[in-house]
Amino acid sequence: MKIQKNYNLSKLNTFGISVQVKFFVEINTEADLKELFNIKEFKNNEKLFLGGGSNVLFTKDFNGLVILNKLKGIEILKDNSNDVFIRCMGGEMWYSLVDFSVERGLWGIENLSLVPGTVGAAPVQNIGAYGVEIKDVLENVEAFDVDMGKNKIFQKEECKFGYRDSVFKNEFKGKYFITAVTLKLSKKENKNINYKILQDYLEKNKIEIKNSKDVSDAVGAIRKSKLPDPKVIHNAGSFFKNVFVKVSEFEKLQKIYPEMPHFDEDEMVKIPAGWLIEECGPVNGISWKGYKKGNVGVHEKQALVLVNYGGATGEEVLSLANEIISSVKDKFGLKLSPEVNLI
Ligand code: EPU
Repeated sequence: MKIQKNYNLSKLNTFGISVQVKFFVEINTEADLKELFNIKEFKNNEKLFLGGGSNVLFTKDFNGLVILNKLKGIEILKDNSNDVFIRCMGGEMWYSLVDFSVERGLWGIENLSLVPGTVGAAPVQNIGAYGVEIKDVLENVEAFDVDMGKNKIFQKEECKFGYRDSVFKNEFKGKYFITAVTLKLSKKENKNINYKILQDYLEKNKIEIKNSKDVSDAVGAIRKSKLPDPKVIHNAGSFFKNVFVKVSEFEKLQKIYPEMPHFDEDEMVKIPAGWLIEECGPVNGISWKGYKKGNVGVHEKQALVLVNYGGATGEEVLSLANEIISSVKDKFGLKLSPEVNLI
């Protein structure tokens, strides 16, 4: 294990922002963590955990220690007639875990196909797509307490999952380095294809779902058609969260904007932030969708995604995000919040 000084992170964040960090270290084994705990650079610095770097925006250099999760391994813990319990190390890529599960015909995470990032980062923001969230199949999260230097297991309830939210983003932010995640997946067919866009895609292409891989392939195809590949255009997926309002508030908005798309969820109404952004713009009559300014812009097929066309700074992206937030506030009175972690 080697601590590196003045390390550039441009290759380790999918936004491709060039920032320097004071110290950088890679964790390849659990023993590395114990060793790191006794090192002075660890004790004396602010810490930032990094996985795939696909949900962060660096707005300035980081004057602390970045700890990159490279813990690898996927194992089947137990297997009964209905379920399989899979333990996956935090540094595995999420898509590898989805592939591992669909290759074995298991059900549960096929809708989360091609979500970028690592397994360790997945519970932090409770990744979700096409009607499924990781919390639906999660058993527990293993983590290393960076203040005490020991391991802790969080059962699902202790993670306090919400929409793109968990305890690891709030009260325990920066306190637990996620080492492994255990999921309970189903051997029995358990398909979840009610998400409108997925349903429409299956109907249009006359796809009959025979196994979990069919779902994973369909989701992969939809994602590829709408979301920019960070290897080609730098981005961090949805930059903003969708907006949830009370039914009464939605009814008022609907009177003014009868065409506003909406989805009922747990006694609240979800309004797609992508639509709100598409309806606003830098000036009247121009939409943010497909907008470009200098090195940054709003993706042309999904207005929730901000992109760095090359050479952008984090401040440039943030300044565009702030312009979008104020335009949505001015027009609809609704407050967008970032989904990505701003550093
Ligand atoms: N819409 C627009 N314009 C847009 C984009 C979306 O009008 O430019 C409206 C449409 O009405 C569409 C609805 O938004 O029917 C929903 O769009 P979509 O299914 O593409 O999903 P989303 O709500 O925009 C969320 C997640 C995505 C996830 C998709 C699919 C958030 C913040 N984003 O986006 O997650 O892939 O659902 O389930 O919840 C990510 O987190 O990085 C991410 C990509």
